[in-house]
Amino acid sequence: MVQKLETALTPPHNRTADPCVIVIFGASGDLTKRKLIPAVLNLQNGGFLPRNLAVVGVARTQMSHAQFRDEVKPEDKCLSSEPMRAAWGALSERIFYFAADATKPESFSGLAEFLKKTDSQVGTPGNYLFYLSVSPNFFAPIIQNLGKSGLAGEENGRWRRVIIEKPFGHDLPSAVELNRTIRSVIGENQIFRIDHYLGKETVQNLMVFRFGNGMFEPIWNRNYIDHVQITVAEELGVEGRGPYYDMAGAMRDMVPNHIAQLISLVGMEPPISFSADAVRDEQVKLLNSIEPLSPEDVLHQAVRGQYGPGEIDGKKVPGYRQEEKVPPESNTETFVALRLLVDNWRWAGVPFYARTGKRLPKRMTQIVIQFKHAPAMLFQHTSVDRLTTNRLYIHIQPKEGISLRFGAKVPGPVLTMGTVEMDFDYVDYFGKVPSTGYETLLYDAMIGDATLFQRADMVQGGWSMVQPVLDVWKALPPRNYPNYPAGTWGPPEADELLRRDGRHWENSGS
Ligand code: BG6
Repeated sequence: MVQKLETALTPPHNRTADPCVIVIFGASGDLTKRKLIPAVLNLQNGGFLPRNLAVVGVARTQMSHAQFRDEVKPEDKCLSSEPMRAAWGALSERIFYFAADATKPESFSGLAEFLKKTDSQVGTPGNYLFYLSVSPNFFAPIIQNLGKSGLAGEENGRWRRVIIEKPFGHDLPSAVELNRTIRSVIGENQIFRIDHYLGKETVQNLMVFRFGNGMFEPIWNRNYIDHVQITVAEELGVEGRGPYYDMAGAMRDMVPNHIAQLISLVGMEPPISFSADAVRDEQVKLLNSIEPLSPEDVLHQAVRGQYGPGEIDGKKVPGYRQEEKVPPESNTETFVALRLLVDNWRWAGVPFYARTGKRLPKRMTQIVIQFKHAPAMLFQHTSVDRLTTNRLYIHIQPKEGISLRFGAKVPGPVLTMGTVEMDFDYVDYFGKVPSTGYETLLYDAMIGDATLFQRADMVQGGWSMVQPVLDVWKALPPRNYPNYPAGTWGPPEADELLRRDGRHWENSGS
């Protein structure tokens, strides 16, 4: 039986967001309806938003405000409670739509006019949060247009901020170039590069867990930790996103961003404060301490795979090359596993293994910290022949929590050892809070806190980590795809990667 703790769920900064207009470019896309509007609604319902706040959707399709409101109205199940219906009532009348082609500079004078009108209608003071939910090739043109039209200028105490979705570049040089272009228009303090993994409570909790408790930090290093495993497994395939995914592949889609965030949060040194730059300085330092893989290393320490037809949960699923809008000869990887070393005082010699893939047996994101074994001498004349592996599991999703596996004496006259687990589950302690994962990120952008957003050097650090692998893979196209059936844990080489080191992947967890 879990005992509930007293918790105070108050707004983290004890203040409502600044009055502003959230302007969503690419508003007719899936993200607006599935995540952004429900997140704004949850914030509204939680009392995090001021009365003078508006949302303006921008896209090419001609639509009235009423049609747009209908389009983005959350599903009935979100609006099943009276408070949520009231919140929607209050919010929906401040949702507007502006039809424009955001790649054309001439659209922006009309947009500027419209936003001015919205300011006087809603009482917003000219603070604009631009959300670029568009294809990456539009990031730079839109920001340049914001600059030229004066919409990016911060004057008289009003702010202008831009949230940029991923993917940020498609390799290191393109990310550097994109940063350069954007920075020629707006300042780093105006740029909020989003990585939705940082919106997950369990990911944010990594810092609190490590630095808010006295008992883990002393053993969080190479003296006690044998290795770290990071798994981001998905059961789903590409879900109609073939054209994007086929260009990106598992490496670009997941590793320089989501997995780099997880590695940096697990490995970073304690920041001197929770201020955005203090935290991000440490994350960057960690990313920059990852040993660059030589071309020779890539052959042994990076594994790629593509799924063929298979079965998940008793259901037959097609191979990647048979997926909708995927070329039948595609050589895009849908699975990646890496062995990385962090060359600093804390981590020297401790491998960080990371893997991610589509169509794996189950959805499971978890970090496993495996501790070194206790000396076994003590047990030599007992019936204990093997000591339990001590592991800390940080469950990110779908299970959310932390568990610790260790050995305990099995009751009885003979000394035998069993493996037991202490388990903390978020839901047991804190209940289920409706969340899309975007609430904190939007709220933080509205109060100007960039801690959970990626700074230019972090994005570049993530790309630097994977660039040697991308280079070798480009030069040596794969010859054996598909090399894992859907519903399995990737190609055999991924298991071999750990077996060579006398280790194995932890597939149980969530
Ligand atoms: C996105 C990727 O960034 O993250 C998708 O583009 C992937 O391919 C998704 O499915 C995974 O996110 P989550 O929150 O479901 O783990």
